[in-house]
Amino acid sequence: MWGGRFAQATDELVQRFNASIDVDREMALEDVDGSIAHATMLGETGIVSSEEADALVAGLRALRERVAADDVDWSVELEDVHMNLEKRLTEAVGPIGGKLHTARSRNDQVATDFRLALRARTLRIVELLRELRGVFVDLADRHQSVIFPGYTHLQVAQPVRFSHHMLAYYEMLTRDQGRFEDSLARLDVSPLGAGALAGTGFPIDRHRTSDLLGFREPAANSLDAVSDRDFAIEFLSASSIAMMHLSRLSEELILWSSQEFGFVELPDSHTTGSSIMPQKKNPDVAELIRGKTGRVFGALMGLLTVMKGLPLTYNKDMQEDKEGAFDAAHTLATCLRLCADMLPRMVLREARMRHAAGRAFSNATDLADHLARGGLPFRQAHEAVGRLVAIALDRGVDLQDLPLDVMREVAPALDERAYAVLDLDAVVDARTSYGGTSLPRVREQIERARTMLAAEGS
Ligand code: ARG
Repeated sequence: MWGGRFAQATDELVQRFNASIDVDREMALEDVDGSIAHATMLGETGIVSSEEADALVAGLRALRERVAADDVDWSVELEDVHMNLEKRLTEAVGPIGGKLHTARSRNDQVATDFRLALRARTLRIVELLRELRGVFVDLADRHQSVIFPGYTHLQVAQPVRFSHHMLAYYEMLTRDQGRFEDSLARLDVSPLGAGALAGTGFPIDRHRTSDLLGFREPAANSLDAVSDRDFAIEFLSASSIAMMHLSRLSEELILWSSQEFGFVELPDSHTTGSSIMPQKKNPDVAELIRGKTGRVFGALMGLLTVMKGLPLTYNKDMQEDKEGAFDAAHTLATCLRLCADMLPRMVLREARMRHAAGRAFSNATDLADHLARGGLPFRQAHEAVGRLVAIALDRGVDLQDLPLDVMREVAPALDERAYAVLDLDAVVDARTSYGGTSLPRVREQIERARTMLAAEGS
């Protein structure tokens, strides 16, 4: 394969060790597209004749059909997707196929293909994120009246609207989408024409191939173009953060669907049974999303580690860049799809949520706020309500069950109005600050989200 330089054949294990075809064939279409752009430019600049360019492009178009139809035999002896496709092209068009690689190296070729492949995956993930954001807004809209326990330290803290909780995920996913969109600006440059590393003496037109491939501009420095993989690290970083969010969501679904919480019932379509315990319904999908988060983080750590010690420019170590990135893209896209399908079908146990929300003195802050509004310094109000909580705990009742005279003994400023303050719905709707959990503020968030989604859709 390497022409005249070698007298002996490559060792068989080395051949398999060196090959990347099993992984990089995933970007076969991108490779053909890159070649079509390159061949077109070679013809336009007169580096090959226009007849030769036409023959190359026609051959590549036919090859593209075969790749799309999964009608190509991939061979380990031909090492990678680039050599495989060049060989298949040459078989089809004859020796002229050998002109395709003029003024090009696999180093700029692979960097180009990989950017094209990650651009397509980024756009797909952006679509899926947008869809899942819509699912959260719909859930929030549908369940505006559902009261839910808000937690800190996994201890009931203050009651909130279930909608509010759903909208928190909307915000996280909005930032995730933004990270992918921002990354496109840096990904969108064409390495093609950088050659092996230093450029080429042929009169190529890098702006033309960049345009043909839909890139914003050619990469400005040929050494950088073939040697960096920061765009893939950025992709993996954005993927890891999004998976971290999906993993937290999954953890909540797992908790909420347990007997102890009993807040939701996950749909049969997204749960499984046990081979031995007939009663079981397990949240496998949520658990696997949580579990698969590990492999995406692993891909990020893996590529950072591959790159950290490499001298410029291309090093074969970099062939390790694609497996983790493609796996992460596939994993994240699948997890987003699963969440968007599963969440609308989950059944809420509203009474259980409401009951849990009203427990554990989740209205204590409101009584302290009430006293503070009456002029008592908040620290003293906090102390007084703390004492009332201790009394209520002692009696095995809630704050609103304490008689007024008991309350007044601890906090003389209190009167009948305290009971209205302690009411669960009043507690939720008292949180009227911007971004808070009161009904008007939650509706405001829903409106804002709907406006954003509509603007993106257009
Ligand atoms: N399969 C190689 C990769 O993915 C393509 C580039 C090979 N370049 C080279 N100089 N051996 O990195």
